[in-house]
Amino acid sequence: MSITKILTDKLSAAFAECGYSAELGTVVTSDRPDLCQFQCNGAFAGAKLYHKAPRMIAADAAAKLEGDADLEKVEVVGAGFINITVSDEFLLGYVKQALADENLGIPQAEKPETVVLDYGGPNVAKPLHIGHLRSAVIGEALKRLVRATGRKTISDVHLGDWGLQMGLVMAELQERHPEWACFAEDFDAENFAGVDLDAESLNVIYPFASAKSKENDDFKQKARAVTAKLQKGDPGYTALWREIIRISVADMKKNYENLNVDFDYWYGESDAEKYVPELLDVLNEKGLLHESQGAMVVDVAEESDKITIPPVIIKKSDNSNIYATTDLATLIQREHDFKPDQIWYIVDARQGLHFTQVFRCAKKAGLVPEEVTLAHIGYGTMNGADGKPYKTREGGVMRLADFYNTVYEAALERVSASNFSKDADREDIARKITVATIKFGDLVNYCMKDYVFDMDKFMAPDGKTGSFLLYTIARINSILKKAEGAGEQFDSSAVYTDSERDLLLKISLSGEAFALAYREKAPSVICENAYQLASAFSKFYHDNHILTEEDADKKRAWLNICAAVRTVLEKHLDVLGIEPVEMM
Ligand code: ARG
Repeated sequence: MSITKILTDKLSAAFAECGYSAELGTVVTSDRPDLCQFQCNGAFAGAKLYHKAPRMIAADAAAKLEGDADLEKVEVVGAGFINITVSDEFLLGYVKQALADENLGIPQAEKPETVVLDYGGPNVAKPLHIGHLRSAVIGEALKRLVRATGRKTISDVHLGDWGLQMGLVMAELQERHPEWACFAEDFDAENFAGVDLDAESLNVIYPFASAKSKENDDFKQKARAVTAKLQKGDPGYTALWREIIRISVADMKKNYENLNVDFDYWYGESDAEKYVPELLDVLNEKGLLHESQGAMVVDVAEESDKITIPPVIIKKSDNSNIYATTDLATLIQREHDFKPDQIWYIVDARQGLHFTQVFRCAKKAGLVPEEVTLAHIGYGTMNGADGKPYKTREGGVMRLADFYNTVYEAALERVSASNFSKDADREDIARKITVATIKFGDLVNYCMKDYVFDMDKFMAPDGKTGSFLLYTIARINSILKKAEGAGEQFDSSAVYTDSERDLLLKISLSGEAFALAYREKAPSVICENAYQLASAFSKFYHDNHILTEEDADKKRAWLNICAAVRTVLEKHLDVLGIEPVEMM
């Protein structure tokens, strides 16, 4: 149970004993950490209910808590605030118990819900670029956060593998390699040996074909025709399409692996195709589908709308399916295969209208039960120093791989400049710093906000950065190494200094930070808490001379805290998808 919940229960019982509503007993962390650790402001709500001065109500409740050994101080201050400080024994006991818990005191869901997370969303045959970064980073962190709170997760990359981009690439390949077996009239799928193609050439072909289609109408028509043939199951194009997916996905996996991002399913939009007939049936049966300017649409506007929500288009006038059709059909697949309680889409905030339409249509049509949560977690853009979406120096679209390498080079330079022992695996350390820099720099911001990527700031070893957290853990590693493993077993029975007490309090409140981050779907809460914890550790480290302390009990207690901070910080990093380093 969280520490504020334990205290809330105590206060609620005290209010109830005095004949007041137990609901007045809500305890929160203190606004004034210099005065107390926790506070309860319930007496003010009580004043309205019982027409009594809040101070009197607070004093009644506080009197009931006298003699509670868990509480060091319960004080009524001002007009009726109750300030609470817990006893050191209670604090130590709480920390000990949280550390012994496999979930480190993170409150676990009562019902182990299943949450599907749809993130990544790359498009086959188009190079992964900087625009794909945030979905991957935020989605991965949310997945880990959902798991940390005791829920099951299913992650699906939801590849864009079915649209015109496939036709463009295949039409261009056909012009360049008309001799390929897959283009022959008498194509024999059984004996297809594949094609001579790699990710690098695919990455250049798409931009080329896309530009060509804008100038050359014949080519554009051809690409459309190829797309249509693919979607109808033409064997030659299907075989080539599979090859392209295979090559492209292998390349994507490398990029995602570099960032510690992975998926349970590599489904694509094409996998939803077989559910489209069912989608159309359901929409028809419910009388939701109607014609509008040649297209088939479903109305999703609601009376309370402040902006116009246009109907969602299911079939265009040329009878082709579009993005919304795919997302709706995918919902049928997810309901069918996974029966999820929630589905979270981590997609650029600019797609907000699309998701509003899709979610409303899905609920209207009953594609998922009413109680299933469908959430779009939108995010802003990562910008360059000029405040515009991050670009290459030449002003082009930045490839994700190039971005990663730029940060990696800078990290390696830093690592090389520091005086590690020779056997340190510098490349491994640089890799971890790279991930920490990119991810923490992103996740520390509230998702919806745009932010400016500033390499020097994001990689700095002090400040609110990933490096600072890695550095804190490395410092603890070094302390514990010198102390030869002492501290691993938390068995302290006294608290000696204020900075130590503050740190114990931060440790004991960390579980609640995870619960809050989950409720708000906000990894930034984890970043902030990790930073607070690491900062409290710095203060503790400077105030107490751990390794030279002569009092053996004191020294052991401090080493205990070092080990505890490391464990708890590593949990934060794990949820953020960042790996710690041994030394730094
Ligand atoms: N491929 C899409 C894009 O590039 C993103 C997919 C997001 N997920 C979804 N279920 N719509 O914009």
